[in-house]
Amino acid sequence: MAVVGVGAAGLCAVRHLVSRSDTFSVAAFEQSDRLGGTWVYTDTVGTDRHGLAVHSSMYTNLRTNLPKEVMAFPDFEFDTNLPSFIKHKDVLQYLEDYATQFSLRQHIKFGTQVVRVQPKPCCAGESRTGFRHRWEVTSQPVGVKEQPTTEVFDAVIVCNGHYSLPLIPYIQGLETFPGEIMHSHNYREPQHFQNKRVVCLGASQSGQDISLDLSASAEIVYLCHNKVPLVSRLPSNVHQKSGIQSVQGSLLTLQDGSQITADCLLFCTGYHFTFPFLSQDCHLNIEDERISPLYKHLFHTEFPTLSFISICKLICPFPQFHIQVQLVMAVLNGSHRLPSKEEMEADTEADFKQRLADGMPARYAHTMGDRQWAYNDEMATMAGCQPIPASVTKLFREVHEIRTINLVGYKSVNYQMSHGEYRPVS
Ligand SMILES: Cc1cc2nc3c(=O)[nH]c(=O)nc-3n(C[C@H](O)[C@H](O)[C@H](O)COP(=O)(O)OP(=O)(O)OC[C@H]3O[C@@H](n4cnc5c(N)ncnc54)[C@H](O)[C@@H]3O)c2cc1C
Ligand SMILES: NC(=O)c1ccc[n+]([C@@H]2O[C@H](COP(=O)([O-])OP(=O)(O)OC[C@H]3O[C@@H](n4cnc5c(N)ncnc54)[C@H](OP(=O)(O)O)[C@@H]3O)[C@@H](O)[C@H]2O)c1
Ligand SMILES: *[C@@H]1O[C@H](CO)[C@@H](O)[C@H](O)[C@H]1NC(C)=O
Repeated sequence: MAVVGVGAAGLCAVRHLVSRSDTFSVAAFEQSDRLGGTWVYTDTVGTDRHGLAVHSSMYTNLRTNLPKEVMAFPDFEFDTNLPSFIKHKDVLQYLEDYATQFSLRQHIKFGTQVVRVQPKPCCAGESRTGFRHRWEVTSQPVGVKEQPTTEVFDAVIVCNGHYSLPLIPYIQGLETFPGEIMHSHNYREPQHFQNKRVVCLGASQSGQDISLDLSASAEIVYLCHNKVPLVSRLPSNVHQKSGIQSVQGSLLTLQDGSQITADCLLFCTGYHFTFPFLSQDCHLNIEDERISPLYKHLFHTEFPTLSFISICKLICPFPQFHIQVQLVMAVLNGSHRLPSKEEMEADTEADFKQRLADGMPARYAHTMGDRQWAYNDEMATMAGCQPIPASVTKLFREVHEIRTINLVGYKSVNYQMSHGEYRPVS
C-alpha cells in the first residue's frame, strides 16, 4: 500500500496498516523532512529552500479550536498535563509521540515527493486484493538531482491535505488596491500589521481566529463576511461588516452598499483541493470544490483501491481519519465489500442532492458540520470498528456552542473526564 503524505491523516493510515503487517505492507511518502503536515510551523512563506510551495498554514499564536480531549485519535491521548486548547507545537509533538509509540517512522520515506500516480489494469492473478487495478507510483527525492523512481502498489491512500492552496475569490477592482494583500495561508504573526487597518474577508475559523489575533496589534480589524453576524462579543477594535463587493484603490464597497477604507486585505477565504500527482487516467474531477467520483468522500468509485482520507470539511479531524482508515483497510482486505460502481455513484448523488435540498451551496459537497457524527457511525459500522465515543461528540457540540457565544474566551476553559463525561474545570 502506498500512502501519499504524512500529516495526521497519512500517519493514521500508516499506524493502522502496520498493525496488520500480516496483510499489508506499507510505503508512505512525505515530501518534507518531517511528519505532521500542517502542524509543522514555519516562518517561511511562498517556497521553501527546495523550491516547494510551503505547505503549512500555521501561525505563531495558533491554539487548537478543539479541546485536546476531542481532538485526539481515539487510541492515543494527548499529554494529560496540557491544557485543553493547546499550541500548535504541542499538536506536532503529539503526532511525533504517536509515531514513536507505534514505531511508524521506518515506514516513511521523508524528502520524497509523489509526482505521479497512474492506474494500471491487472493481469489475472497479479492483484492480491482482487481488484482490477494496481498503481504505479512515481516519486522523486526533493532537493537532489536524482531520477524519479516508479514502484507498483495494490492500493494508494491519498493524504496530501487540503489547506495549502489558497482560494482567492474574484473581486472587481482588486488590482487597484494599493496596500498589502495576503491570504491566511501566509499569515504568521500580528505584529506584521501593527497599527494597520486590516480587512479580514471570510469569517470561518481562520477569519474569526485571525481577527482576534490581529486585534492586539492592528489599529482596526474589519471582519467582512456574508454570513449571519457572529453573536459573540468581539474586541472593541474588531468590527463585523458585510462582504466585499468591489475595490477602488483603498476604498472598499461592501455588499450592503457601505464603504470602508483599509491598509491591508487578508483573505480568509479558504482553500482549493488539489491532487497534482494524479494522472489523467485517474479520472478525478474537481468542480466547485466537489471531488468526483467519490463514494462516502473516501473511495474513488471507478478505482476503489484509490482512496482519500481527510476530504471532509468542518469536522473533528483525527477521530474521523481513524475511522476512515479502518474502513479503507476493511475494503482492501475484503472484509467489507463495496457496492457496485453504479450503486456507489447513486449514493453519492443522493447525498449531494440532499445537501442542496437542505439549502447548502454546491461548494459544500464535502462540508460535514453536524452531519459528521452519523457519517462516522456509518463508516465505523461498515468497517466493523469501534465508533467514536459519545463523550467526544457531546463535548465537540458543547464547545461549538460555547464558541458561538464566547469566541474571545472559549479557549481558556479546561475539560476533565468525570463519570464518563467531560466537564469544565477551573
Ligand atoms: C490553520 C489551521 C488550523 C487548524 N486547527 C485545527 C485544530 O485546532 N484542531 C484540529 O483538529 N484540526 C485543525 N486543523 C485541521 C487540520 O488540517 C487537520 O487537523 C489535520 O492536521 C489534517 O491532516 P492531513 O494529514 O489531512 O493534511 P496535512 O496536515 O496538510 O498533511 C498533508 C501532508 O502531505 C504531504 N504531501 C502533500 N503532497 C505530497 C506529495 N505529492 N508527495 C509527498 N507528500 C505530500 C505534505 O507535505 C503534508 O505533510 C487546522 C488546519 C489549519 C490549516
Ligand atoms: N485552531 C484554530 O483556531 C484554527 C484557526 C484557523 C483555521 N483553522 C482550521 O483551518 C481550516 C481552514 O479554515 P478556513 O477558515 O481557512 O477555511 P474555510 O473553513 O474553508 O472558510 C473559508 C470561508 O471564507 C468564506 N468565503 C469564501 N469566499 C468568500 C467571499 N468572496 N466573500 C466572503 N467570504 C468568502 C467562505 O464562505 P462560504 O462558507 O460561504 O463558502 C468560508 O466561510 C479548518 O479546518 C479550520 O478549522 C483552525
Ligand atoms: C480487515 O480489516 C478490518 C479493519 O482494520 C479488520 O477489522 C478486520 O479484522 C480485517 N479482516 C481480515 C480478514 O484481516
